[in-house]
Amino acid sequence: MFEANYHESLVPNYELPDPLVTQDGAAVSSSDWGKRRAEILSLFETHVFGKTPDQPIRVRTQVMSETESLGGKARRKEIRLYFTDQDTRPYLDLLIYLPSSASGQVPGFVGLNFQGNHSTTPEADVILSDQWMRAKGAGVVDHQATQEARGTSASRWAIERIIDRGYMVATAYCGDLDPDYDDGYQDGIHPLFHSNGAVPADDEWGTIGAWAWGLSRALDYFETDDEIDATRIAGMGHSRLGKTSLWAGAQDERFALVISNNSGCGGAALSRRRYGETVGRINASFPHWFCNNFRQYNENEDACPVDQHMLIALMAPRPVYVASAEEDRWADPKGEFLSAKYADAVYRLLGTDGLDAEDMPPIESPIQSRIGYHIRSGGHNVTDYDWDRYMDFADIHMR
Ligand code: GCU
Repeated sequence: MFEANYHESLVPNYELPDPLVTQDGAAVSSSDWGKRRAEILSLFETHVFGKTPDQPIRVRTQVMSETESLGGKARRKEIRLYFTDQDTRPYLDLLIYLPSSASGQVPGFVGLNFQGNHSTTPEADVILSDQWMRAKGAGVVDHQATQEARGTSASRWAIERIIDRGYMVATAYCGDLDPDYDDGYQDGIHPLFHSNGAVPADDEWGTIGAWAWGLSRALDYFETDDEIDATRIAGMGHSRLGKTSLWAGAQDERFALVISNNSGCGGAALSRRRYGETVGRINASFPHWFCNNFRQYNENEDACPVDQHMLIALMAPRPVYVASAEEDRWADPKGEFLSAKYADAVYRLLGTDGLDAEDMPPIESPIQSRIGYHIRSGGHNVTDYDWDRYMDFADIHMR
């Protein structure tokens, strides 16, 4: 039986791979960073998340609705992205809120949600997802959302606060891209790339890769919408979807800013610390999230050629924000902080500031340098406090 370690004294000694030394042992200068970046990205593809196919998919869009919202402060749109020539699944429904007061193209935030777009807002006319839902409760019966599911995740989506600060916010249901269960990749978008029941190879993408691919398709859409400034989009995600926003931002440098909210193991937390959730545990509970090769590092973290500080470093020199929660020990807050800290050297090499902190800051004392970090009180969640800090950070680094 797996028992998580929550004692700092039982964290083993470990040595992290150096993002600024190549696999051949050569020191990396700022002019070499592009090459080293490609090497690290390829290591994450092969050993952690799996390669994303580069076969282009023609995306068709359909406006499903467009209306005033929030008492006229916002305009709401629902845009469906079809990935085939048929009007059938798989498709991705983007729910978008734009500030009515905006003049010109607006910057904003995009992130996937856990329970369907209808869960992020109490507004009763948003499309109720008929897609498979993993969670039970909160208006979900037999893995299907009911009307009672409306607004059940609204506290995690500070839509009105975001609008009040002049940003766009867009979200989509992760299950539109790939339902969150281990089905041998036979539904969602995987079959578009692996036909006739074929499965991804050991170094090819799993579910997180599919979700990250979807965030990039949202960005493709923003590039075609003249109300949205696609060059100033922050990719944001919580928990498994924070692992996803990091992986999307690593692969797709069009994301101007990347936010990891309580992303934990396989996200911002250092795997070698083996504190809280471990690689072995995550691969056992969620065998579909990463590539099969990642299983080689179950109880064998030191053998992995990368650790998660190198994922943060793949954002450099773009602003990146890592957030933890005090009671979220499963996600290893200190391990999340240390990833941000050990990515700092790459930012400095590239001539920007990195993380302006040596040690973990106290609760609710955000650091807002080019690498941002905070730990707030409370548990595993996304709160208004988190969103307010992300907007402060975006005001500094993306406005
Ligand atoms: C589980 C899982 C975590 C994940 C979290 C979530 O706790 O073990 O890795 O981040 O779910 O997505 O909420």
